[in-house]
Amino acid sequence: MPGLFLGGEKWFYFKVMITVNMSKYSGQLHRLFLKHFGTEPVMFRSPGRVNLIGEHTDYNQGFVLPAAIDKATYIAIAPRMDDQVNIVSADLEQQYHFSLQDVGKSGLHWPDYIIGVVQQLLALGSPIHGFDIAFGGNVPIGAGMSSSAALECATAFALNRIFDCGLSSLEMVKAAQRAENQFVGVNCGIMDQFASMFGKDGHVIRLDCRSLDYTYIPFRMEGYRVALLDTGIRHNLSDTEYNTRRMQCESGVALIQMRYPEVQSLRDVTMQMLNDCIRPGNEIIYKRCKYVVEENIRLMQACSDLEENDIRSFGERMYSTHEGLAKLYEVSCPELDILVEETRLLDYVPGSRMMGGGFGGCTINLVREDHVDELVKTVGERYKKQTGKNMSAHIVTIGNGTSAVNNPFSD
Ligand code: GLA
Repeated sequence: MPGLFLGGEKWFYFKVMITVNMSKYSGQLHRLFLKHFGTEPVMFRSPGRVNLIGEHTDYNQGFVLPAAIDKATYIAIAPRMDDQVNIVSADLEQQYHFSLQDVGKSGLHWPDYIIGVVQQLLALGSPIHGFDIAFGGNVPIGAGMSSSAALECATAFALNRIFDCGLSSLEMVKAAQRAENQFVGVNCGIMDQFASMFGKDGHVIRLDCRSLDYTYIPFRMEGYRVALLDTGIRHNLSDTEYNTRRMQCESGVALIQMRYPEVQSLRDVTMQMLNDCIRPGNEIIYKRCKYVVEENIRLMQACSDLEENDIRSFGERMYSTHEGLAKLYEVSCPELDILVEETRLLDYVPGSRMMGGGFGGCTINLVREDHVDELVKTVGERYKKQTGKNMSAHIVTIGNGTSAVNNPFSD
């Protein structure tokens, strides 16, 4: 809900602001579609996500605590009578065309998220044929807010609707994840697609990435906002260490299984098992696994903090997560570390840490709502001084998951 942290008049202005923003994107996209294709589209949106705690745990069958946000990818789409697919990227001002008879990589990267989903739906036997599609939005690319999952989920949801494929939300989430794993080539977990599809206004999702059971937990941190501070460093997970981290975790599990065959993933591992099976001799694998084991425990404790509304304790755990990601899992970078460090002495920031895959993007910060501007100014200035780079900020609100946009000019 846009006004979760705001009261009275402020809430009203904030809501107006959000409405204007959303209709700006979907309205512009609607016009662009009409200009390109000359037919009336159907419109959909799928949001980016934040993750409060539980990083790099999803592909280890652990727990995560994400939420959908009020930044989304919008899609305008209309079916065609033939097998042709025509894609327009509003933000990149580029186009790509292909035939369903010849589904392969584009060589451009950005269309691959759509093509990958098409390929997955075809593999499921879904009755899809050609379509025209335009997309754009305000989830910053490569900033760790899952712009790629938002595009994949919006595509899956839209195709499911317009071709009546009969897929459930979970089937769409899994198809979107497979598109990223098998077509784009990033061996990501399920968190981003799940959060984008299943997000709920005012709630975080505690997701068990093994059983896929989930619980919505009210995000009741009254008087606080979620601020993402953006390093401006853009990562590309497929070129980075992401896939390597996943393999290192799998190697750790294989070593532990030699002694504890019942262990299926790091989810089942204790520190005792780690000490018995991995150390000494394999320092890197040990560090990676230690981080994941500790992070799963931290997440459970953080959920209790949330239920007890203990924001200080929750925030401390965020700092511990950052420490683990930086020193044990080694997916941070100097810019992210500076942004976290600079909040440590600010008593209006109970918690801060890097968010998402790592190597750039944003930190997620809990900040007292009357100090948001001060945080952005103070940390932005210190960041500039130390790195010579500009920091930007995204103050986000927790919102709903993937949906149709009924009226592009008022939704
Ligand atoms: C990326 C991946 C997710 C998850 C996070 C780290 O966002 O897409 O599946 O692994 O990194 O928590």
